[in-house]
Amino acid sequence: MSLPGAVESMRAEVLEGLTRPLRELSPKHLYDERGSKIFEEITRLPEYYLTRVERGLLREWVPAWIRDLRPQALVELGAGSAKKTRVALDAMEDEGSGDLFVPVDVSAVFLQEVADELRADYPDLRIEPVVLDMAHSLEIPEPLPRPALFLLLGSTLGNFYPQDATDLLHRIRDRMADEDHLLLGLDLRPSPRKPVEVLEAAYNDSRGVTARFTSNVLRVLNRELGSDFDLEGYRHRARYNSEEGRMELGLVSLRDQTVRFPGGATLEIREGEEIRTEVSCKYDRTSADALLKPAGLEVRRWVQDGDDRFALVLTGPQRAPHS
Ligand code: AVJ
Repeated sequence: MSLPGAVESMRAEVLEGLTRPLRELSPKHLYDERGSKIFEEITRLPEYYLTRVERGLLREWVPAWIRDLRPQALVELGAGSAKKTRVALDAMEDEGSGDLFVPVDVSAVFLQEVADELRADYPDLRIEPVVLDMAHSLEIPEPLPRPALFLLLGSTLGNFYPQDATDLLHRIRDRMADEDHLLLGLDLRPSPRKPVEVLEAAYNDSRGVTARFTSNVLRVLNRELGSDFDLEGYRHRARYNSEEGRMELGLVSLRDQTVRFPGGATLEIREGEEIRTEVSCKYDRTSADALLKPAGLEVRRWVQDGDDRFALVLTGPQRAPHS
């Protein structure tokens, strides 16, 4: 349980989202301890290619990039379990380049576990975990040894609507020195080699793990806010919206139902009505440039797997144009 003030602000934020014409919850509520565990399960599903393909790309490209950039610090945003980070940490160790790792995440418990594990495996690494919600602020310890390499992997950016994504990238840019880089992992839009079915299957897995992940959010709300969502009263839906270039995930009400919150707030949810739990934006070169440019960032390297599923994008602060 959280502090009373925190519950009050969560209630206000949740009710604001749930009373919009298109009901919506922030994806951050998906990641309590149970949700984080289910997400780990998702990353191991046969249909969920994102994690595997990204890991392959990191192994293929990151050692050479680290050799070139010689970062003195690694800052991982939305570190989660920091499993893929090891590719970069190993390369930094091999190159003897830097010894500072700053994992940043909303989940304090998770961060502590990760830091403890890494301390055991990298005795010479300085680890300075920072707990924050990067959707709101990016107060990381300064000064960082330069150059620094920032990481935003796993298509985490995809959870942000375009304007929010640009705002986040701008906040990151504000923390970067001119010689720093930001490495993004981005999931790609359908294309000749990437049928839309591949994309949709990643969010509609045959074992129903993603459905469990999505409906867990109602359990979180019931526990944290004391609401009475019927956990069996909704079904998971995930579809690709080709106009917007994104997966849209949500819970569809199986019947007309009333949800009560302590203090008297109620919601009347009709059969077939959807509560959106997250969007997962997909990218191509054009849409990625459109997010990066207004944030003051530019693409330095763009690599993707042979099936055009996922991209690693090394970006840096825009250089002043030559005169
Ligand atoms: C963690 C936001 C990258 O969008 O693929 C996976 C979350 N949700 N399956 C994604 C998620 C359902 C994931 N991100």
